[in-house]
Amino acid sequence: MALIAPSILTADHLRLGEELARAEGADLWHLDVMDGHFVPNLTFGPDLCRAVVRASRVPVECHLMVERPQDLLGRYAEAGVRRLTVHPETAPHLHRLVAQIHAMGCEAGAALNPGTPLAAVEEVAGELDLLLVMTVDPGFGGQKMIPAALDKVRRAHELWPRLTLEVDGGIDAGNAREAVLAGAAVLVAGSAVFAPGADPAERIAELRRAAHESA
Ligand code: DX5
Ligand code: ZN
Repeated sequence: MALIAPSILTADHLRLGEELARAEGADLWHLDVMDGHFVPNLTFGPDLCRAVVRASRVPVECHLMVERPQDLLGRYAEAGVRRLTVHPETAPHLHRLVAQIHAMGCEAGAALNPGTPLAAVEEVAGELDLLLVMTVDPGFGGQKMIPAALDKVRRAHELWPRLTLEVDGGIDAGNAREAVLAGAAVLVAGSAVFAPGADPAERIAELRRAAHESA
């Protein structure tokens, strides 16, 4: 059964605590950390991540869309997050970075942009706890999933059947089934869970039902 990881990017940031409490059934909080350089948007610092860790029993993962992730990892690890996911596009020394994340007591993930081939993580795949296959170009919530990205998930699953695969971007109840069939074990969902007027708990249950149908 796939895990549902709501991204708080599209939640009401003024009422974040209430939003988290309403999103009953979440398996994991997905926090999108953006630096305004690697991606054209700017979001959550380590203090906000620490506040989320403290506010909820649900584990937190940080998806670091930042240049020079090595400079920031420590502060996010200290915030108490369970997993740190970095983009190989930002990291010439990916092997070292993964070892650093593990040494900080966190799980290590690698995230691939739609334009980045699986080969970018081939040499470190055995060290990873998670591979995040971006299903949109990162930077913003509410984009449409790129169907070809699911083919990359399929190929990753064939190459590394024991590696946990996560999809992120444009995932909703309409395509969750296809993502799980492709091999995704973690479904990140922003706008499908947190949208004006929506009940996040209901949206999570809906996603889970859709994902389960395929299991
Ligand atoms: C995109 C982020 C995603 C995003 C997902 O850069 O990495 O996590 O918040 O949001 P939706 O589900 O709305 O595409
Ligand atoms: Zn993300």
